[in-house]
Amino acid sequence: MRRLLTGEKNIVLKQRIPLLEKSFQDIEELGIYLHIPFCEQICPYCPYNKEIYDPDVAARYTNAIKTEISFYSDLIGNKPVTSFYIGGGTPTTMLYSGLMEILEHVYKSFNMRCDIHMESHPNHLSSDNLNTIISMGIDHLSIGVEALQDRHLKTLKRPYISKEVKAAVERAVDKGFKCVNVDFIFALPDQTYSEVEQAGHALVEMGVDQIAAYPLFLFPYTQMGSTVKANNYKISSIFKRRKMLGILESIFYSAGFRRTSVWAFTRPDVPKYCSVTVPLYVGLGASGGSYLKDVFYLNTFHVAEYINTLESGRMPIALSLDLSDNMQMAGWLYWRIYETRFAKIGFKKRFGKDFNKIYGKYVRLLSLLGFLKDKEDQIILSDKGTYWLHVLEDLFSIDYISILWGDSKQNPWPDKVIL
Ligand SMILES: C[S@@+](CC[C@H](N)C(=O)[O-])C[C@H]1O[C@@H](n2cnc3c(N)ncnc32)[C@H](O)[C@@H]1O
Ligand code: SF4
Repeated sequence: MRRLLTGEKNIVLKQRIPLLEKSFQDIEELGIYLHIPFCEQICPYCPYNKEIYDPDVAARYTNAIKTEISFYSDLIGNKPVTSFYIGGGTPTTMLYSGLMEILEHVYKSFNMRCDIHMESHPNHLSSDNLNTIISMGIDHLSIGVEALQDRHLKTLKRPYISKEVKAAVERAVDKGFKCVNVDFIFALPDQTYSEVEQAGHALVEMGVDQIAAYPLFLFPYTQMGSTVKANNYKISSIFKRRKMLGILESIFYSAGFRRTSVWAFTRPDVPKYCSVTVPLYVGLGASGGSYLKDVFYLNTFHVAEYINTLESGRMPIALSLDLSDNMQMAGWLYWRIYETRFAKIGFKKRFGKDFNKIYGKYVRLLSLLGFLKDKEDQIILSDKGTYWLHVLEDLFSIDYISILWGDSKQNPWPDKVIL
């Protein structure tokens, strides 16, 4: 697959700071991702870069982020920022310890032309905290619900019971955000079909605008990934997952939701909640990743190293990868397919090439297999195609992420990472 799409034998990220002035020159608009790497507890299945929240570290992190923003404000100048996402970790750990200061600096430094999307933890969503979130201008909120049956919440070691998480979501829904998204994980150890069905209905009844339903992915470097075999958990097979996703699809479709990405289902007339909505973006913070047409680069994952590097006036970039034309096109295609529908004209606009000439034969084959519909300028994935994309993602992307994130967690400044 990799060779077919990118022409590369290996993808090698190297310890090298790219020439950023050049990469920013011909960009018209971009997105910003801000990573908050703190949590109150470490969940056993979670692959993201995070550590236990400490107020002193958060204060130094705030200053480091502001320094990184100032560095980019010269490079980005007046270019419009059309997507802004705050993820983690748990961004709401910094609700009263630096988040507002960071947001003010973002608005002072960049030409912001978008709403703010932010992730949150259910235990942080008191009515007062929700009011604080709204007063910061955050109008799209995501909540990590994960499960709605107490026994599964216990397996995931989530620090709440079903009744409490439902109340937190309902409080958020009542506040009138433009979009409330909930994350839900299915195919949990020993989970039954009827539990998935019950949870699917409960998610709809809570009145949320969007549901992101992921199967449990097992990353080898997480506690659950490494102990799963030892505990003899029965992780659902590919076909069991397919059936569970089918149950959720039919509940969400009959409640009027539409599919807006591989994992997400959104109510009609609601703008979808999505991490970065534009193809090019800059990632701020420890482990922030940036994608700028011909280069991808990644900050160090190590929070203390991230802070120290910026305090000594250097950039915290740990690894970078120059992207060949084929890699740029394959990357573009991967993200557009992830959104489950796209216009071929977007490809022409970005690369000046005819989409059908480059990918036409694959599209014809996938269309014959019933994986997608090729309607003039539009490519639309079917539910079957979307499901097999899940499987591919599980086999390939999770593998890539495990290597890249696993190595970056172990070593703040790896010489190179080979994918
Ligand atoms: C950064 S967390 C969400 C915010 C907050 N930290 C929380 O836990 O509530 C992002 C989401 O990724 C999903 N996630 C994390 N690990 C996962 C895994 N191993 N498999 C599938 N989904 C996962 C969860 O649904 C989680 O809510
Ligand atoms: S799932 Fe959320 S709270 Fe748990 S470790 Fe991951 S980011 Fe932190």
